Amino acid sequence: MSKLLDVIRDRRSDRHFSNKPLEAETVEALLDAFRWAPSSNNRQPWRVLIASSPEAVRIFDDALSAGNKQWAPPAALKMVIIGVPEEQPERNGLQNFMLDMGMAMQNMMVQGYAMGLTIHAMAGFDYDKICKGFNIPANAKPVAVMAAGYRGRVEDLAEEVRVKDLKPRTRKAIPEFTYRDNYGTAFK
Ligand SMILES: Cc1cc2nc3c(=O)[nH]c(=O)nc-3n(C[C@H](O)[C@H](O)[C@H](O)COP(=O)(O)O)c2cc1C
Repeated sequence: MSKLLDVIRDRRSDRHFSNKPLEAETVEALLDAFRWAPSSNNRQPWRVLIASSPEAVRIFDDALSAGNKQWAPPAALKMVIIGVPEEQPERNGLQNFMLDMGMAMQNMMVQGYAMGLTIHAMAGFDYDKICKGFNIPANAKPVAVMAAGYRGRVEDLAEEVRVKDLKPRTRKAIPEFTYRDNYGTAFK
């Protein structure tokens, strides 16, 4: 089996971070992986905002949901992933820009894992606080925030968070979501 599949399979959304800062080249590699994602018509309707000043970090942490506030603040790298819908028109009534964003985020998460980092995407954030705090214009939509860093120690997490972190990772079996010839007929 290819090594790439191992990386894809083993990548995980940890909740523990060490306080080791990320080297500039490491951040660059994450952004490089992000930008090489495919997007419809190669429109690349994305922006990444990195919160680095103490005030930006404060805004980021304050906007996290209560659950995410329990573990994400110690992450060394904090990013807001932003899509610009007008750069990727709707098709079939679907917000296609969201697909592009997901592709790019996954590229970054897989690259990060391969470099020994953990990157955790979060939809749990206060949309208005993020937009206001970072001066994001109305035509740009924050779709997720991400916390990244070198892994810390699961033992150092608060009990409630540690339980979540240690929960076995599971996925649906292939026949549960793959059909042959007819919607609902399992592919075996
Ligand atoms: C778009 C998106 C939003 C997510 N939001 C949160 C979140 O707000 N808080 C959280 O703890 N995990 C969040 N996650 C992480 C998922 O819970 C995690 O990916 C899933 O449980 C599978 O675990 P794994 O990434 O370790 O394979 C999010 C993941 C994605 C892709």
